[in-house]
Amino acid sequence: MEVSNFHHVEFTVSNALQASFWYCVNFGFEKFAERKAKNWKTNEIAIRNGKVILVFKCPMLSNVKELTDDLIIHGDFIKDVAYSVDNIENVVQRILESNGFILSPIKIISDKNGSVKIAKIASLQGSLVHSIIQNIDYKGIFLPNFNSIENFTLSQKLGRIPILSLDHVVENYDEDITESVADWYGKILNLTRFWSIDDNQVYTNFSALKAQIVSNSSNEVQVTLVEPVPQNTKGRGQIREYLDFHGGPGIQHIAFKVDSIISIVAEMRSRGVQFLDIPDSYYDQLAKRLDGTPLRVKESLEDIQKQQLLIDFDENGYLLQTFSKPMQDRPSLFVEIIQRNNFNGFGAGNFKALFEAVEAEQQKRGTLIQ
Ligand SMILES: [Fe+2]
Repeated sequence: MEVSNFHHVEFTVSNALQASFWYCVNFGFEKFAERKAKNWKTNEIAIRNGKVILVFKCPMLSNVKELTDDLIIHGDFIKDVAYSVDNIENVVQRILESNGFILSPIKIISDKNGSVKIAKIASLQGSLVHSIIQNIDYKGIFLPNFNSIENFTLSQKLGRIPILSLDHVVENYDEDITESVADWYGKILNLTRFWSIDDNQVYTNFSALKAQIVSNSSNEVQVTLVEPVPQNTKGRGQIREYLDFHGGPGIQHIAFKVDSIISIVAEMRSRGVQFLDIPDSYYDQLAKRLDGTPLRVKESLEDIQKQQLLIDFDENGYLLQTFSKPMQDRPSLFVEIIQRNNFNGFGAGNFKALFEAVEAEQQKRGTLIQ
């Protein structure tokens, strides 16, 4: 009895048409479905790429308080990470037992293509919520009452960039809470602790963080929980920066899994996606690190450096990953592209490299020093 998969990720935005266009063009998604509320209060546009579905929901009238209140605080942001479950009654029961907050109890929604059961719960801290969805017999394109729509002409012309699935999501929190959040995900969604890293490993002269990863048994659902660690620091750490600009805890990044990261990142760059710069010293050290192992990396080190990818590995396999610059004006949400070659780990060796690369960006935009 546990979550089986990410179902979709829902953004609250002020303009779903434009936001969905931006993700379609930059990341090779296809616009495919739309749901207008009967009273014309909200519109939702769904885009897909591989198994990843992103939904953009916006208010259509000025009095849609549940959306406009959030937009004032956060701007455009990820409101809902929705999970597929195989027994929704059990999940809701566990939430009630662990004093969880149910925003919307189980209901059945249907159209001519069948029905699903859906409930919505609050997360432990911040505006993030989780829809919990159990399919009954639904065979339509997405969810009941979403109608099929044409893709954008430009994204049709540019073509799809082959993304496979949502690899993981990362949630940023305030200090001293991720332990209880990890327990909470364990209790309600049966996600178990997979790995953790602390401030002795991830720090710079300016700031530090710690993180925990929880996952389901198949590892298809992985959630990282990150919090800042206060120190005698000279500046505002990147998790604090996120909390300040996002307006509280929330989703820091989502990771798209791919299987040919070199060409995919090159294509995304050509469409305008900007990725973090990795210092040359990382690649000098990498050549030495790889020299000492029997591991064979099929991509050339030259291509890896050209696309500014990070690599982590053990004796059996490796992963390649890269991180975009922020997806909006605020330095809050970003996107990761990840390729796994027989490696289920978490880029532990890269956590510090990422931390330093983000901090270099902070320094450039002038938000590091308070
Ligand atoms: Fe990540």
